[in-house]
Amino acid sequence: MPPHAQGPFPMTLPRLFHAGLATAALLAGIAACTLAAVGREADPERGRYLVERVALCADCHSPRDEQGRFVAARWLQGAPLPFAPTVPMPWAPVAKPIAGLPGLGDAEALALLTTGALPDGRRPLPPMPEYRFSEPDARDVIAYLRRPAPPAADAADAR
Ligand code: HEC
Repeated sequence: MPPHAQGPFPMTLPRLFHAGLATAALLAGIAACTLAAVGREADPERGRYLVERVALCADCHSPRDEQGRFVAARWLQGAPLPFAPTVPMPWAPVAKPIAGLPGLGDAEALALLTTGALPDGRRPLPPMPEYRFSEPDARDVIAYLRRPAPPAADAADAR
């Protein structure tokens, strides 16, 4: 075969090999980006950090004893609120149990935590905050709350 018939980039075997490697690297890169976009695995420990250190869900959702200390054995199991509004307004005087997220599916909990509303448009009454967690953060929070019986130690170091 005359040399000019090969064009400017003759596909020798080593070149073909390198082209294959480049394609494989490109595909791996695309796969990694897609995974990052779709989301990592939910991380219950990070969820615990968000619940206990950032959003302070226990302030309303965990009962306290007469000294104002959290009752460890009833961590996040719902509580009557120890405060009330000073003007008439929509108000729920009791914060429901959230340990295990009873009565809520994952899609409902995700909608609630990322938009402040349930998929049917219902919004919990104040003073439940209308959280706008990012989706990965909300998944972490859900993973933490769904853990079987949260360890009582959580209550001790949440303060
Ligand atoms: C300032 C008090 C307060 C804080 C902080 C708070 N909540 Fe609530 N939450 C409430 C009250 C009160 C209700 C009951 C609202 C109702 O009955 O309409 C509620 C309801 C809920 C519900 C039930 C929704 C339903 O109707 O099924 C979930 C789930 C929930 N909260 C999760 C959380 C999580 C998770 C956090 C922390 C990220 C949190 N809450 C922080 C007060 C609070």
